[in-house]
Amino acid sequence: MDRNIQIISERLIMRPIQLADSDSIFLYRSNSVINQYQGWIPQTIDDVNDFILNLTSPQINQPGTWFQFVIIKKDENELIGDIGVHFHASDTSQVEIGCTLNHKHHGKSFAFEAVHSIINYLFDEWGKRRIIASIDSRNYPSIRLIERLGFQKKAHIKEIPAQNNECADDLIYALLKDEWSASKRT
Ligand SMILES: CC(C)(COP(=O)(O)OP(=O)(O)OC[C@H]1O[C@@H](n2cnc3c(N)ncnc32)[C@H](O)[C@@H]1OP(=O)(O)O)[C@@H](O)C(=O)NCCC(=O)NCCS
Repeated sequence: MDRNIQIISERLIMRPIQLADSDSIFLYRSNSVINQYQGWIPQTIDDVNDFILNLTSPQINQPGTWFQFVIIKKDENELIGDIGVHFHASDTSQVEIGCTLNHKHHGKSFAFEAVHSIINYLFDEWGKRRIIASIDSRNYPSIRLIERLGFQKKAHIKEIPAQNNECADDLIYALLKDEWSASKRT
């Protein structure tokens, strides 16, 4: 049943990831420069297949698992990105989100439109109360995106292990359902 979820916005459709999406996802997820602040960078298509089959849940809202949406551009039926949602293991009112877009489609507000729709979906359909995002402090495009959506910075964790044996600062942002509802009224 979860495979039939469709979240529709003006230019986009968000639907659950499928094995047939591997090639399109590998195209942009394997770019280690664009995705330099991501924890997962596939080296082969098999890495993407493994991610879809073993690291994402086939069912939404399962505590302690990630559920993965892909972002489809309606006009050309093209897969342009993905959004992961982590359902917290013990606090079931909380989820974490992360978004990655094919760099061909950066700077057109597709990420904003997609994440905006997923936020509505998580608050309205699943009754979540808090959505968080964890972002490397050097990841300026992500920080802009999440702040434009109304998330507030709640924590700045210094010098945690990051890519390439480096240490980096992590920012934790949060958005509450009440804040989101209030922003839609103004
Ligand atoms: C994070 C990420 C998804 C954001 O994508 P994005 O394209 O910057 O975000 P949007 O789709 O909302 O686009 C917003 C920008 O496009 C601009 N824009 C909107 N419409 C536009 C248009 N028609 N033409 C040109 N620019 C446009 C907006 O003004 C905005 O620019 P600004 O940030 O300078 O104000 C992207 O940078 C990415 O995939 N990064 C790599 C993965 C990653 O690190 N993810 C974070 C995991 S937590």
